[in-house]
Formats: sequence, C-alpha cells, structure tokens
Amino acid sequence: MKANQIVLPLEELPKNWYNIAPDLPEQLPPPKEPEGGPSRMEFLGETMIHECLKQEASLDRWIPIPEGIRELYIQAGRPRPLYRARRLENHLGLKKARLYYKREDLSPTGSHKVNTALAQAYFAAEEGKTTLVTETGAGQWGSALSYAARLMGLQCRVFWVRAVYEWKSDRRTFMKMLGATVHASPSKETEVGQQFLRKNPKHQGSLGIAVSEGLEKANLEEDSVYCLGSVLNHVLIQQSIIGLETIEQFKRVDDEPDLIVGCLGGGSNFGGIALPFAGEVLKGKRECSFLAAQSEAAPNLVKGEYRYDFGDVAEKTPLLKMYTLGHRTEMVPIRADGLRYHAAAPLISTLRNQGLVKAVAYPADERLVMEAARIFFQNEGWLIAPESSYAVRAGIDEALKAEKASQEKVICMNISGHGFLDIEAYRDKLNIE
Ligand SMILES: Cc1ncc(COP(=O)(O)O)c(C=O)c1O
Repeated sequence: MKANQIVLPLEELPKNWYNIAPDLPEQLPPPKEPEGGPSRMEFLGETMIHECLKQEASLDRWIPIPEGIRELYIQAGRPRPLYRARRLENHLGLKKARLYYKREDLSPTGSHKVNTALAQAYFAAEEGKTTLVTETGAGQWGSALSYAARLMGLQCRVFWVRAVYEWKSDRRTFMKMLGATVHASPSKETEVGQQFLRKNPKHQGSLGIAVSEGLEKANLEEDSVYCLGSVLNHVLIQQSIIGLETIEQFKRVDDEPDLIVGCLGGGSNFGGIALPFAGEVLKGKRECSFLAAQSEAAPNLVKGEYRYDFGDVAEKTPLLKMYTLGHRTEMVPIRADGLRYHAAAPLISTLRNQGLVKAVAYPADERLVMEAARIFFQNEGWLIAPESSYAVRAGIDEALKAEKASQEKVICMNISGHGFLDIEAYRDKLNIE
C-alpha cells in the first residue's frame, strides 16, 4: 500500500519547544525604547503574560512544554500529519521533484494559530488572569484565541479589523459561539479607536490600529492580558512544534526536504515550520533552503527595509528590528488578509538579513495564488486557506523550476489553514457563480 499520510504516534508529540536564538550566528538585535514617551517595555510588562515575556528574551535552546499544554495539543488533534503530494506531483508531471505538505489546516479553528493560543491561554490562567484581549486581521487568530480561552475557562475580547469583520460573518459567529466578545476596530471601546472614528466614522481599520486598541484595553482592565498571535519570539517558539514534528516525520519516510516553503504575514507559521530545520542548518547538520511566500500588498521581506520599527500604529510597542514597510503604511485589501502586516518577525528578519531565508511576492489581484488553491483542492482534495495558497503557489513554481532544470528536489509546504470559512473569497477571485 502506498500511504501518502505520514503520522506520528501520540507519544512522539514533542516535549520541548525549540528556540533558535542561541544558535544564531549573531545575537538577535534586542527590542529598544523609542526616544520620547513612556517606557514601552514597562507597558508590555504590565500588559502581557509573564511566562511569554520570559520566553521572549530566553537563550535556552529547548523550552519544556508543560504537560497541561501537551494535553491541550492532543485535544486539538496534534501531532498533525505530513502528506506526500503524489496526486499533485502526477498532475504537474513531476519526475524529479517531490512535494510534501504539513497539515496545520487540520485544526479545530482552521489554522496553526491554535498552537500558540493554547499555550498563551494556559500560561495566562496559571498567572491568575481571567480575560484574554487581542486583535485579529483575517479572523483566524481571534478564532484560535476564543477557542483556547474557552478550553481554559477564560473570557476573550477580540478587536477585529472592521473591513474583515464586516465580510467574514461566519467567522464572527464562530467566535461568538465560543463566547468571545468581538468588536469591529476602530471601536468606541478605546481612546485610540475613538480618535480614528472622529476623523472617519466609517474607518475600515487595520491590524496596527487593532493591536493599539487591544493593548490599551488590556492595560486598563485588571486581570486582563494582551495576547499576540505572530511576530514575537515567544509566538515563533511555541509554533516550533510544527517543524519539530515535521523533522521526525521525514525520518519515518527516509527522506529530507531541500526546500521549506510557507506563507508569511508576520512570520509565525513560516517560523514554526522553518526554524527547527534552520537551527540544524546553522549547526551544519543538514542542508536546506527556506522560501517565504508573500503578497505584493504587504511585501515586508521582499521590499521592506531592515531597521527598528514599531509593531503597531499607535506606537505602544517597543521598537523591534525587522524588515518593515513602515508601521503607518496603508496596504490594499486582499482576500488573504492574514498576510497584510507591515513587518516580519525579528527572528525571520535576521535570517533573511543573513541570507538563509528568501522571499517572493505574488500580485495583489491574487489570481495566481487562488488558481494554485484550486489545483491543490482538485488533486489533493483539501480546501486550504487563501493565505496558504501563497505557499502552495510558491511550492508548485519551485517544483516546476527544478523539473525544468532536471534537478532532484524535495519541497515541503506548510498548509497554515483550511478554507471552509473562506468560500466567498474563492467564489469572488475564481469567478465561480
Ligand atoms: C491561515 C493563515 N495563514 C497564515 C497567516 C499569516 O500569519 P503568520 O505569518 O503569522 O503565520 C494567517 C494570519 O492570520 C492565517 O490566518
């Protein structure tokens, strides 16, 4: 029997997360205070989960995953399978290139975001907090945190970029069914939100504004903490579960990837799959390349500058060294809304700066990427998130290039989410009646 699914038994669920920081050739540039105004570090210290802030600055290579979080991971369906994309290979006529994909779409809320949401909810509950506050763009992070909060018996408050809040009504219902309070951002709930609404009562919002609103609210409410779903080191550490499982899965089929591909907005799913492999590359234990697939609407790694910048519009965060388009940049709307962020995670940015990570950006009309999602659906049978279609597009393009050059190449794509709540995006972009 030719089984395309490569699974790990429950006992092999990793017991530690991986932190690449101590293995970097150069120390990661630390966060900085801006010149004027109140201390942003103190603000975050008061507003965020202490265990997460500890991980943020940690130089420990391995960070133990508490038993309670491993149980939550299993509840949420981990370990997740790796698939060999034989049907897609046949469709593309590949003889030399082999394609694999990691199944983060098999998630209760539809994406990889659950990996860090569960960890953050668990640590917040341990620290005696009662409410998790956050922002969301695509809605996947808000859904994941609503789910994690509910499993841990916590409240959840989500500030959701208004433009997306309005069209993703099914995802809104999803979060509300889990008991979350969901605000369209900018909202009247915060000073920052009110400022934007005064200037434009129909303001469509942005991720940067939603972050600012969430931070303000979490800081004002006793027993609330602010949770971020991407960019920061602790998020990428908690997402390393993806790559750690994938390394073991490749061993089971006696194969090795030459190229890891993932879509990238802030960098959490890409970092999750890539960093455990990148750590082995840096130690000389394997050879592998890394490609981040982006939108031309937010090509932070492709066109951004490597410099210190804020993580949000209201400048409440410390300055982080990142490839950035500028924290006030307006970005055109796209259906893969999760890819619309102005900067890439500091850990990914440093690897890009050192030449280990490469990036490609696809046109903002999204025709090419949505077509890749259709090909994937028709051949592999799984409907993926619009964001993940960027990874599949890049994976297919790289496989075809290798084939043309008669080069043997093993490519692993990360499927960051499913598309069951994104049918409208496909209907629109693929002109389906
Ligand atoms: C399904 C999916 N993939 C990818 C992303 C991009 O985020 P990140 O770069 O942090 O993985 C998002 C963000 O919302 C998402 O929902």
